Amino acid sequence: MKKYISRVIIAFSVLASAQFVAHAQDVPVYLDASKPIEQRVEDALSRMTLMEKIRVIHAQSKFSSAGVPRLGMPDFWTDDGPHGVRPDVLWDEWEQAGQTNDSCVAYPTLTCLAATWNPSNSLLYGRSLGEEARYRGKDMILGPGVNIYRTPLNGRNFEYMGEDPYLTSQMVVPYIQGLQSQGVSACVKHYCLNNDEEYRHQVNAIVSDRALHEIYLPAFKAAVQQGKTWAIMGGYNLYKNQHNCHNELLLNKILKGDWGFDGVVVSDWGGTHNTDEAIHNGLDMEFGSWTDGLTMGETNAYDNYYMANPYVERIKSGKVGTKELDDKVRRVLRLFFRTTMRTDRPIGFLCSEAHYAAARHIASDGIVLLKNKGNLLPINVTKTKRVLVVGENAIKMMTVGGGSSSLKVQREVSPLDGLKEQLETIKVEYARGYVGDVTGEYNGVTTGQNLDDKRSPEELIKEAVEKAREADYVIMFGGLNKSDYQDCEGHDRKEYGLPYGQDKLIEALAAANRKFIYVNISGNAVAMPWLDRVPAVVQGWFIGSEAGHALADVLTGDANPGGKMPFTWFERLSDVPAHSLNSYPGTWRTDKKIIDEEYKEGIYVGYRWVDKAKTKPLFAFGHGLSYTTFKLGGLRQDKSTMTADGTITFTVNVKNTGVKAGSEVVQLYVHDEKASVDRPQKELKGFAKVYLQPGESKDVKISLDSTALSFYDEKSGQWTAEPGRFEALVGTSSNNLPFKAKFTLE
Ligand code: BGC
Repeated sequence: MKKYISRVIIAFSVLASAQFVAHAQDVPVYLDASKPIEQRVEDALSRMTLMEKIRVIHAQSKFSSAGVPRLGMPDFWTDDGPHGVRPDVLWDEWEQAGQTNDSCVAYPTLTCLAATWNPSNSLLYGRSLGEEARYRGKDMILGPGVNIYRTPLNGRNFEYMGEDPYLTSQMVVPYIQGLQSQGVSACVKHYCLNNDEEYRHQVNAIVSDRALHEIYLPAFKAAVQQGKTWAIMGGYNLYKNQHNCHNELLLNKILKGDWGFDGVVVSDWGGTHNTDEAIHNGLDMEFGSWTDGLTMGETNAYDNYYMANPYVERIKSGKVGTKELDDKVRRVLRLFFRTTMRTDRPIGFLCSEAHYAAARHIASDGIVLLKNKGNLLPINVTKTKRVLVVGENAIKMMTVGGGSSSLKVQREVSPLDGLKEQLETIKVEYARGYVGDVTGEYNGVTTGQNLDDKRSPEELIKEAVEKAREADYVIMFGGLNKSDYQDCEGHDRKEYGLPYGQDKLIEALAAANRKFIYVNISGNAVAMPWLDRVPAVVQGWFIGSEAGHALADVLTGDANPGGKMPFTWFERLSDVPAHSLNSYPGTWRTDKKIIDEEYKEGIYVGYRWVDKAKTKPLFAFGHGLSYTTFKLGGLRQDKSTMTADGTITFTVNVKNTGVKAGSEVVQLYVHDEKASVDRPQKELKGFAKVYLQPGESKDVKISLDSTALSFYDEKSGQWTAEPGRFEALVGTSSNNLPFKAKFTLE
């Protein structure tokens, strides 16, 4: 009997393995995950009809493009981005789909993430967002954004990572890696020179090659070469008179040629304007076009996209061949194999406690303590009986609005509620102080808040001041919001000053109570004409679902604010080079169709300009205070001469000399002593964040190679590091670099 059973088992397993072999032989190469991706791409491509190829390179709905059902390739779903997964809209309308499972966690906006100066936060951010995207069935998140902060009026700066190409590059790479680890593609945007929102479809950016390569491209290049992003979104604007979504130089030459990008170029929604340019100049997937079909709604609008029927007609009439089409489809297939065609993609989570914890941690690590005279902060909880909270931004939901990054959140804790929760036994009162924008709706998502208040500004200030006189601390949450012409897509701010008469309120509160703390909620710098009268100022960004918790953590000292400014906070608009040089917003051409914006400041953006023009900003790039103190000491270098292919390492010891745990960011800037071209006084080339317990100390090491010493040589079109003497400037902010070490590049 035993023998019989084993014979049956053997017979069965022979049969099974024979079947397996037969099955494995049947599996087409493109479905065989063990085969190299390029082989799978070629195999799939060879099986596709012309119409199938055309269908995958343009949208079929607001946020999706078609797969190839005949070959078992699913539709491809994109979604905004970049701070949480946008709620679903109807197939062909911007109206909400009305799902009940599309509320998400809103993470801090990218300015806050950049302010953490900690790439591991980016990894956590990307991974957490990727998990939510997976749960929601999204294959691509439209983000992150890495356009450089050039003017504080840009309505979209909050979606970006500040002014410095090195910081932005370091912070964007792990975000992409984290997101893509979940099988969700990043789509890094908006490539490139999309540095202001006003007239964004008409701006023709005029910029020197040096500024392009040294300031505006590095983060995109890092996203491609280090982050290995699977997609890039073209900007709406023009460069060299050609729209960036089909810009020969930017897409074919630089992105795909020089950088070897093998992913897809996605148009911004409605950023495609011309079939021939789209075919030839490197666009791979067209989304959001407003063709006649779409506005009229007579036929399927998507068939009328620039890269749909018009493309087919050109191929059928022999006007264009299929070489470009095949290249586009190869890229799309690569994207499919990286995402929708993977069988091992994680399932993801929505609104998990771990995601809230990530959002809260990143927020408090990015909140910047700008000023803290007499150590007014943190609030002395044991000696406090009454706290007065003032301002619309203490109660207004900030996750709704701002344009395409608007979200529908499962929860958003307001600063007022966060403080009440944290201060438990202390009486927390509220006064409105000013009325800003009481509406709370974006694209069909409503906050449900009734913020109406018909009182006059004088009455509101009077009430706030009276209550302020009775309070132990007064904390005002003011700043901007996500309404049109503020921190919002589509337009720029109209002025640098705070809106809604807040300056008056701030001055009155500062006069009424010595313990006055101003928390600025925004993604941009604002004018602070009252700064000398306000003892404590906190930059609170837009920090999403956990806003109230994170801000309360910081204000009460439960968390030590860890942020450092990712951009220069200029005192006045006329100190900002784009404005002082009359470059912004540009000059309309006589036909009024294009506005030329010449980036006259060249490479001198942010702190580079501060050094050159010798202006004094309100808060320097890299600035941020702490509740503890640090002592940096003993800057050492492992050599004094480095070779072109070698490295040099600097070590500095950081000690927490205070009584609270906290973090410090060691920043290293390079100064070139002599160069054949004009160079900035210094440029950030390394940084490291350390978290230290009281009394603890650590050695921080920062290494440089010759890329950190190079500039973009316009004559040769190459990056060049000239031999000679350099200086490493080390400290904790761009205006506090007490340690210097000289070295030579051979
Ligand atoms: C924005 C993009 C966004 C897209 C889709 C465009 O208007 O510029 O950033 O991803 O819409 O919502």
